[in-house]
Amino acid sequence: MAEKLQAKMVLDKSYQISEVDKRIYGSFIEHLGRAVYGGIYEPDHPDADEQGFRKDVIDLVKELQVPIVRYPGGNMVSAYNWEDGVGPKESRPKRLELAWRTIETNEIGTNEFVDWAKKAQAEVMMAVNLGTRGIDAARNLIEYTNHPSGTYWSDLRREHGYEQPHNIKTWCLGNEMDGPWQVGHKTAAEYGRIAKETGKAMKLVDPSIELVACGSSNTDMPTFPEYEATTLDIAYDEVDYISLHQYYGNSSNDPANYLAKNMDMDHFIKTVTATCDYIKAKHRSKKTINLSFDEWNVWYHSREHDEKLDPWTVAPPQLEDVYNFEDALLVGSMLITLLRHADRVKMACMAQLVNVIAPIMTENNGQSWKQTIYYPYLHASVYGRGISLQPILSSPKYDSKDFTDVPFIDSAAVYDEQEEALTIFLVNKHLEESIPLDVDVRSFEGYEIAEHIVLEHHDLKAANTKDTTRVAPHGKGESSLVDGRLKAQLNRTSWNVIRLQKARTN
Ligand code: AHR
Repeated sequence: MAEKLQAKMVLDKSYQISEVDKRIYGSFIEHLGRAVYGGIYEPDHPDADEQGFRKDVIDLVKELQVPIVRYPGGNMVSAYNWEDGVGPKESRPKRLELAWRTIETNEIGTNEFVDWAKKAQAEVMMAVNLGTRGIDAARNLIEYTNHPSGTYWSDLRREHGYEQPHNIKTWCLGNEMDGPWQVGHKTAAEYGRIAKETGKAMKLVDPSIELVACGSSNTDMPTFPEYEATTLDIAYDEVDYISLHQYYGNSSNDPANYLAKNMDMDHFIKTVTATCDYIKAKHRSKKTINLSFDEWNVWYHSREHDEKLDPWTVAPPQLEDVYNFEDALLVGSMLITLLRHADRVKMACMAQLVNVIAPIMTENNGQSWKQTIYYPYLHASVYGRGISLQPILSSPKYDSKDFTDVPFIDSAAVYDEQEEALTIFLVNKHLEESIPLDVDVRSFEGYEIAEHIVLEHHDLKAANTKDTTRVAPHGKGESSLVDGRLKAQLNRTSWNVIRLQKARTN
């Protein structure tokens, strides 16, 4: 007879990983496909504001509580002239955009994006071009955005209608410079040097900024993790974060293996953390480099379609993955992985935000709608703020094509001390069986269950479209809390958010 599946967990207020930096719920808008044109910006849309930004999209971004948005790329930034995107719109040049082989009209640039981010209540994470350009363009850009006045570039910004500096705090030194596909691709030694010198000049202009250096574009890169080690060895004193990027897919249609892929993400984070600490030790440094996982998501559904697109058009429908239910489960597990590394991962960007491998989709001149992956992202961003706790979890396990000992249950928990709230995020990866979970929460005396949200669907391939929402959460999860023991039923292939709240006495 098969053994009965059962998971057990202990959650204690004092088993703390770290305070969650809210910026781990960041996202990304690149000048790519319909992310900008037709996504955040569509001046002829009935819901556009006075600057041409779609208010329906801004409302969804606000609902997600996205704290920071990376911009303007991505691969696009590596051949981008930021000067093309500022000043009077009628004199901005149209350019060949080399990364995605489209036409960039430059109707939207730095100032407009800063305005959009304010409306969406997000900070900006700005990337500089270290592909075709370098120190000079970067130091001019930061003088333009962050210097108050009285110099050529800061006064030009004021002439362009922005009296006050934007004070952008977080800057990426290029994008995926380890990748041979990158315009201006560099070896680690070449990149380390330009990152160091550009970072140095940028911090001379504004010492209050934080800098993110490129690491590896994914764990399969032949130069991983040597790229990180060499770059940091050269630029350790100038940079504050190292970047990680990773996308997963299920093109072989093997759900058990696919749902285990956050184990690779976990290994990636652990390896990069160890590499940062090795260089710290080598330099006898007191400074710790933290991690910016500034591109992560599922990306594979649209690849075949995109290969057939004609080049040199404006805002074609590129990277428009339509996500299914199993993608939402993996996204949930990836969010759990980020939370479990809250001590070192201080920023992360779901890539991307609108239309391009995105939780939010829009129709040109039509409505906006939520993809399946919208929901785990929403729940984590809204309820996952506070202290990430270390769950002591014992879960039944399975083996898949690429992974061994995959726990069927993934979990992270966040304790909001001020609100006296505890949120437990759980994924059950079992393809057939529900798994009962027993959690010892005795340190949360006087707490009661506020809600048990579940995202589930009998069909792993179920997806949402503009007309039909097949995958959406419900609040009917089965759980009970008696004498410090929380018992919950985790339905097969489900994302669960169990929220406990201290009972209020009047
Ligand atoms: O997000 C899509 C692309 O993926 C980005 O432009 C690039 O940085 C990565 O390869």
